Amino acid sequence: MVNLPTVKAHNATLKSALRPGIVAVFVGGTSGIALSTALALARYTLSPKIYLIGRNQSAANSAISTMKSINPSATLTFLKADISRLKNVDSVCAEILAKEKTLNLLFMTPGYLTTRGRDETAEGLDRKFVLHYYARMRFVANLLPLLTAAAQDTTLGSSRLSRVVSVFDPRAGVRIGGTGKLDYSDLSLKHTFTLGKCGAHASIMGNFFLEGMAQKHPLTSFLHAYPSGVNTGLLRDSPVTSAVFSVLLKPFMVPIEESGERHLFAATSGRFPSKAEGEGIQKNVDVAIGSDGTKGNGSYWVSWDGEVFSPNRKLERVRAEGAVDKVAQHTEEVFRTMCEEGRTYP
Ligand SMILES: NC(=O)c1ccc[n+]([C@@H]2O[C@H](COP(=O)([O-])OP(=O)(O)OC[C@H]3O[C@@H](n4cnc5c(N)ncnc54)[C@H](OP(=O)(O)O)[C@@H]3O)[C@@H](O)[C@H]2O)c1
Ligand SMILES: *[C@@H]1O[C@H](CO)[C@@H](O)[C@H](O)[C@H]1NC(C)=O
Ligand SMILES: *[C@@H]1O[C@H](CO)[C@@H](O)[C@H](O)[C@H]1NC(C)=O
Repeated sequence: MVNLPTVKAHNATLKSALRPGIVAVFVGGTSGIALSTALALARYTLSPKIYLIGRNQSAANSAISTMKSINPSATLTFLKADISRLKNVDSVCAEILAKEKTLNLLFMTPGYLTTRGRDETAEGLDRKFVLHYYARMRFVANLLPLLTAAAQDTTLGSSRLSRVVSVFDPRAGVRIGGTGKLDYSDLSLKHTFTLGKCGAHASIMGNFFLEGMAQKHPLTSFLHAYPSGVNTGLLRDSPVTSAVFSVLLKPFMVPIEESGERHLFAATSGRFPSKAEGEGIQKNVDVAIGSDGTKGNGSYWVSWDGEVFSPNRKLERVRAEGAVDKVAQHTEEVFRTMCEEGRTYP
């Protein structure tokens, strides 16, 4: 475990380690873990440019005024969008691409907890599945040119941060008896949806899509992170109250401010280098083991405490089935159908 003082000491180095003007996008940044991480970034860096993406205007206004008071040199922008539609993801990304030449951090948490079943969007996918997986991966695909440009910017010296962090749960498919299997005949769960399968597919597909990205884009590092229990707005649409949630999960709860500090650590620490950086690093340096078991390989499945999960037999079996390629192919097909051809899926 990386203890909290170590996390805070690292974060306190960011004012000198990163050059002023770091650019960060927080998808889901109006609330919860992404907001707490954005607040920590505002506190610990010099003149950051921070984009928040979500739907709630009043939450965004209050987040922005808080960040302004923490750091008057920050540039803060709210991009209002319902990203359960991939078309809207594309419009928001187009706005960012028009304004920025580089992107140092893409941080993503959108989603919600529900006991309701499949809820189909006009594009033909389940809303929750889109927020946990498809929309996030579309952000990655769209913004990769900016992330790559950040890594290549030679004016940045040692502060060429280029990182993607998706906060969900790399283990959701294998916890509490989960088989860890992907249903390749129905990856989008159009025909065989259950809430359990939806969580498992979003988790496992996220794992392997990001692992594939790390192979293809060696200048950027990719993290899939598990936050443990954090008392956020996550339960606003759920019958379970946050009081009940907090009691049930008490031993696993992380205070929201600590969660922000810890996710800022995950988003900036040298423990999680890109594949290209990892290749240049000496074996004895404190670098995390990548998701495929190779140290510093650019893709990491990280737990709430800053440590990567130990290898999992079920997930290794899924990789051996060719999950990296199969998931990428399916996801690209979904993107093509909806975003380029403007059709519903399938
Ligand atoms: N908190 C926990 O205990 C916990 C535990 C395990 C895993 N996780 C995972 O961690 C992630 C983050 O959780 P959190 O606790 O930070 O949740 P949260 O406080 O509910 O934040 C979720 C964010 O997603 C945004 N969002 C939801 N639907 C959207 C839509 N259609 N379009 C645009 N934005 C949308 C919300 O913004 P708007 O309302 O402004 O749209 C909100 O800012 C989730 O994926 C969750 O599954 C959380
Ligand atoms: C928007 O955010 C505010 C402030 O956080 C909250 O009180 C309100 O319930 C939210 N509105 C919706 C529709 O979620
Ligand atoms: C990790 O390294 C191995 C060996 O170099 C390579 O085969 C594998 O594709 C790499 N994985 C990633 C995610 O880069």
